[in-house]
Parts: sequence; structure tokens; C-alpha cells
Amino acid sequence: MTRLFEDYRNFIPDFDSFLESHTRPLPNHLRVNRLKISPVALVGMLQEKGISLRAVGDEDDSLYEAPRTLPPGKLLEYFLGYIHPQALTSCLASLVLAPRPNSLVLDLCAAPGGKTSHLAQLMGNTGIIVANELHRRRHAPLSHTLSRLGVLNAVLTAYPAQEFPSRERFDFIMADVPCSGEGRWRFSGEPRVTVVSKYRAGIEETQKRMIVRGFDLLKKEGIMVYSTCTYSPAENERVLDFLLKRRDAELVPFDHAPGMEPGTSHWGKEKFDEGVQRAGRFYPHRIDSVGFFMAKICKRG
Ligand SMILES: C[S@@+](CC[C@H](N)C(=O)[O-])C[C@H]1O[C@@H](n2cnc3c(N)ncnc32)[C@H](O)[C@@H]1O
Repeated sequence: MTRLFEDYRNFIPDFDSFLESHTRPLPNHLRVNRLKISPVALVGMLQEKGISLRAVGDEDDSLYEAPRTLPPGKLLEYFLGYIHPQALTSCLASLVLAPRPNSLVLDLCAAPGGKTSHLAQLMGNTGIIVANELHRRRHAPLSHTLSRLGVLNAVLTAYPAQEFPSRERFDFIMADVPCSGEGRWRFSGEPRVTVVSKYRAGIEETQKRMIVRGFDLLKKEGIMVYSTCTYSPAENERVLDFLLKRRDAELVPFDHAPGMEPGTSHWGKEKFDEGVQRAGRFYPHRIDSVGFFMAKICKRG
């Protein structure tokens, strides 16, 4: 597990604990779907079956940890759309974007729909979410998630996010872009170095094009969240730096998550715009979940 992460030793705090956290299993987090049931009712329902949930975080009481031995996807409550198994850090992205009810929202890379359905929940099924996913084979799991969870305010499109049509401007944009996924290696295992390097070389340019296109699609007062589940500054701060140098963009500070670390303005000899420090890095030894990165972005002034 150490080879690919060694490049990050200089900016990940308490690096040895970070490495050690990869030997521990991921917790079982789930989100209660308020579109169908209240957290109180769901917790009581599972309690009657002898299943205790523990509330996590204090920002939104729909996030819970279930016992490790329980696969939430096998419960009747999953099929009824009362719960959605979702990493805690993934849920934080929608909470940070915080779309208003009745707003126009674009989810640039939507499948399998964890964040789209959470956004719909936060909007109380009002307004419109354009859930965009390039790969049509991923529209089936996306549609399944949205219908199971009772999402009524989403339409699906299949554009390359980096070329999404510029006919409309949006109040809120989620840019949860494809990435090398280092934050998920804790359960999927580390892939071969050559595979990661090849993938990353191709994806960086796409990520830069996606963030710029997303920014250009914002209304004047619009907000965008850029997120990945990877640690590499090449896919995170370097992409933000690219945007900050080309557009009148700025990062908005946010404090939704205890254990969050700031974005890094240095990586080896590379220096990024100081503004990237307003982004949030989520490490498994600080917040027990999938490793994550996110930045909240608005138009300057
Ligand atoms: C990190 S996943 C999104 C996860 C999703 N936001 C969620 O919370 O469930 C990235 C998604 O982007 C899709 N994708 C890859 N290239 C894309 C592109 N050029 N345009 C739009 N979507 C793309 C992938 O198929 C994948 O489903």
C-alpha cells in the first residue's frame, strides 16, 4: 500500500497513521432517505429488528453508522428506499453544496446516483436536477437509485461533462469527477502502478476541462462543488489552480466536517495558488470513511 502513497508523505499529516488506517475495514455508513421516511421512524424500525444505528456528524441527522456485520443493501428497508448505503465523505459533498429548494441544479457526473439522490433529498424533491452521465450503461443503476429512493425532480442526460451544452445556467453544480480513486483503495486494494499512472495521465486534462465547463455553466451567484475520491494533488489542487488562473473564480471556505485538512499549496517543487488551501482533504485516519477531496467554488465578487 505504500508505494503509490509515498509521494504524499510530505503533505499528509501523521503519514504513518494514514498508512496504518488502510489496514482497517471501512465502516458501514448509510443515509436515511427523508424523501420517504424520517430518521426517527427508520431508527425505531431497525431497533425493533435488533439493529442499532449510531448517528454520525452533527450537520445532518440523516447520516448513520450501522453495525459492521450488517450489509444495509440486503435489508427490506433498502428495497423500500428508506436507506441508501453511502460513504460519509460522499454525503458531505452534497451538504457542502447545499442546494436550495426550487433551484436549478446540474450533477455533471451522476452515476450511480448517491449524490443526485442526496441533492434531491436536500431540495425536498422540488426544482430540477439535470443528472448527467456520459456512459449509457451506467444509466440503469442511476435510474434504479433515483426511482428506488423516490426522486421526482431529476432528468437524465448523457453528455461528456467537459462539453455539456452551454444553453442554460445553473444555481448549483456538483462536479464529482472521475478520478484515480485512491481514497477507495482501502477496500478495493491497490492497483498496479502502471495502471494508475496511465489512467492519471489521461484523466487530468479531462478534469481540467470539466471544472472550467462547470464554472462557465454557473449563474452569477451560483455555487459549484468540485470533488474526487483521490489524494493526488495532480487531480485536485492542480485542477483548481488551472481554474483559478483562467477564470474569475474563488474558493469559498466551509467547515462542515471535523477532521478535515486544508488543500495543499505545495507539492514537491510545484506551487499552487494559495486559494487552494480553502479546499478540504479527508483522510481515513482523520475521518473514518473513503478518502475524499472537495472544493466549494463561486464567481468572484
Ligand atoms: C465519481 S463517479 C460519480 C459518482 C456519483 N456522483 C455518485 O455520487 O454516485 C464519476 C462518474 O463520471 C462518469 N464519467 C466518466 N467520464 C465522464 C465524462 N466525460 N462526462 C460525464 N461523466 C463521465 C463515470 O462513468 C462515473 O459514473
